[in-house]
Amino acid sequence: MKIEPIINGVVARTAHPGGCEQSIKNQVAYVSHATPIKNGPKRVLILGGSSGFGLAARIALTFGGCKADTIAVSFERGPSEKGVGSAGWYNNIYFKQQAEATGATAVNIIGDAFSDAVRQQVLDAINTQFNGQVDLIIYSLATGVRPKPDSDEMWRSSIKPIGEPLTGASIRLEDDSWQETVLCAATEQEVSDTQKVMGGEDWQSWVDLLINHNAIAPSCQSIAFSYIGPECTHPIYHQGTLGRAKVDLHQTSHALNLKLAPFNGGAYACVCKALVTKASVFIPTFAPYVLALYKTMKAQGLHETCIEQMQRLFNSKLYPNPIVDAERLIRVDDWELQDSVQQQVAHLLPQLNSSNFTKLGDYQGFKREFLQLNGFAIDGVDYQQQYSLAQLQALRP
Ligand code: NAI
Repeated sequence: MKIEPIINGVVARTAHPGGCEQSIKNQVAYVSHATPIKNGPKRVLILGGSSGFGLAARIALTFGGCKADTIAVSFERGPSEKGVGSAGWYNNIYFKQQAEATGATAVNIIGDAFSDAVRQQVLDAINTQFNGQVDLIIYSLATGVRPKPDSDEMWRSSIKPIGEPLTGASIRLEDDSWQETVLCAATEQEVSDTQKVMGGEDWQSWVDLLINHNAIAPSCQSIAFSYIGPECTHPIYHQGTLGRAKVDLHQTSHALNLKLAPFNGGAYACVCKALVTKASVFIPTFAPYVLALYKTMKAQGLHETCIEQMQRLFNSKLYPNPIVDAERLIRVDDWELQDSVQQQVAHLLPQLNSSNFTKLGDYQGFKREFLQLNGFAIDGVDYQQQYSLAQLQALRP
């Protein structure tokens, strides 16, 4: 079979193995020539390491200067009669191939990071591969559901404003359409359930688990990713259900910082830039801002994707010493929030509408990055290549 992109709404239903391989190679090439990470960690656990920021962090830490060994947990689908599998599945495979070719250890654990079984697999891998300890724990899960402990029920997140309803436009990648959207305000239950899914509680439980199993190395750090954004995004993000969850994550970073202090370590929430990822395209009414932001940051020579963000985080914000703001946050959204960028975005954004967004905003770039996340639209890849299911199933993560 030839593998073509299939998108339902904002979800990619196919992924191209050759494209995912090339994408990993491109990111490895970028970090290999970027300013190197100095005094970085050697043994890294990444929760959510198969795509977006987690994958970029993994690539940066292995190939961007400190030659880290990694254990990555992810929830991905392999090839079957039902489909070719998810991009993250192939990213795991090709990252491991590249890393092992340079002598680095790369362990892929595929399963539900909230489950006891996966926690045990991680502890076993730390014991056997990392001599029992980790130097950095990266929490980069993005999910809409979290199982309630000892129950068959789930907490489900809702991406909604708080207090007031919100009107805005969302973009459907499936047919490149601009959809006017009205979002009602979240209920108290939805606010608290979203915090359970995307807040800091599960991050804390992972760090507690590792402390309790003596798996924290001296100077061990832990980071999780957050977003704040400019005022025009606050109704859907910072002041909405997601923002509440992120405030909880920030507070958790302070609690974890105290827990890691006896190890001479620390914990930080890192505030990143708005980017196209598998998770962020789900945020209703957010895409027009991203189109205006991409257009502006590219014009000003400031655009970064996940890989540039992660290399800059590790080479200049976290190592050799963490640089934090007054709220003890690490800011990698500094370029996004520059006045020159936000003034231009504020000028552009109100002009975008259903008939001009593909030209006035950077819709081409937005769509291309989305396709590239799934292995499509990448230069140098043979998209005519035929794959058999058996051949795909022979690739093991
Ligand atoms: P992503 O969707 O690209 O990656 C999510 C990762 O979590 C994947 O590796 C996936 O396999 C894994 N995962 C999800 N559920 C899992 C489960 N139950 N068990 C094991 N693994 C699971 O998402 P992205 O965008 O990289 O998000 C990571 C973090 O970065 C999130 O906290 C997000 O809020 C934050 N962030 C994202 C920004 C953006 O613009 N994309 C901006 C700032 C922060």
